[in-house]
Amino acid sequence: MNAKRELYEELARQARGLLAGERDATANAANLSALIWQTLPDLNWAGFYFVKGNDLVLGPFQGRPACVRIAMGEGVCGIAAADAKTIVVADVHRFPGHIACDTASNSELVVPLLAGGQVVGVLDLDSPLFDRFDEYDAAGIEVLARIWIAAGDRL
Ligand code: SME
Repeated sequence: MNAKRELYEELARQARGLLAGERDATANAANLSALIWQTLPDLNWAGFYFVKGNDLVLGPFQGRPACVRIAMGEGVCGIAAADAKTIVVADVHRFPGHIACDTASNSELVVPLLAGGQVVGVLDLDSPLFDRFDEYDAAGIEVLARIWIAAGDRL
């Protein structure tokens, strides 16, 4: 099997174990962002934004301090949330509207958090490498997003 798929299967197993028995969505987001940060190579940011009104508001994360509030439809995160679609950006400097929270970021993966068809936030990964994320990363992080949704109560 593809090594990346194996890595994400192992990560999903660990995430299920880590979140099992806890319904607090914030605590689960904090632990999941730490697990991703510890496990996946070449990241400079990994964390959550939650939908609050018309904005995405910063949630638990690992990495440098980040933008607190992102309007729906703005930046990679806001577009992924507004369209309820995963976005893989190979070079953030070529993505119109990209919001640079950390100048070290060169590529990005944003996965929407979907609860009953409704977007409740996004899971965002940044990398200092160009073209760091592919379809295996997207699929693997989508599984982690579903694990987080299933594990906890709504915020
Ligand atoms: N780059 C994101 C903003 C969030 S930071 O990367 C943590 C964006 O364009 O939405």
